[in-house]
Amino acid sequence: MNNGCVVRPYRAGLDNWIQLGCEEPGMPIAGGYRAKKATMKKIEAIIKPFKLEEVKDALAEVGIEGMTVSEVKGFGRQKGHTEIYRGSEYTVDFLPKIKLEIALPDDKADTAAEAITKSAKTGKIGDGKVFILPVDNVIRIRTDEKGEEAI
Ligand SMILES: Nc1ncnc2c1ncn2[C@@H]1O[C@H](COP(=O)(O)OP(=O)(O)OP(=O)(O)O)[C@@H](O)[C@H]1O
Ligand SMILES: [Mg+2]
Repeated sequence: MNNGCVVRPYRAGLDNWIQLGCEEPGMPIAGGYRAKKATMKKIEAIIKPFKLEEVKDALAEVGIEGMTVSEVKGFGRQKGHTEIYRGSEYTVDFLPKIKLEIALPDDKADTAAEAITKSAKTGKIGDGKVFILPVDNVIRIRTDEKGEEAI
């Protein structure tokens, strides 16, 4: 069970599920259902602030329909220091970063992640990370459209 939906593994691996039906009015559960694969992902990418325009343009080129951008602070394995030296090992400095959040169809996730890594890379420490997460559902508030149609 997953959020009221019945799912079973489609192939080996956590990524591939067939959704048998949801326990919602009008959605038949088992028998007469239409098997449907979960097909959406969310990319959360942390990048250097000065790279935002370049990354945005690269994502527009691969057809991304929407995104959310936030100013955030964070640290990675250098703990915000450009060098680790005696005495700074146990202190942490948060550095300003930009977080992008993008919901997208499964089959666009790799292309979008590649667009981000290529455009955000400087080759120096602190370039950031791309996290790719599964998404159960998306709802467009204005129309009540759901799933990929709502992206
Ligand atoms: N494990 C993590 N979980 C959540 N956010 C992270 C994590 N690692 C890094 N971040 C975020 O990404 C930003 C940039 O991380 P950064 O690129 O310095 O990672 P790193 O692992 O130290 O790699 P590098 O050695 O290239 O610097 C951080 O400031 C933080 O906001
Ligand atoms: Mg780092």
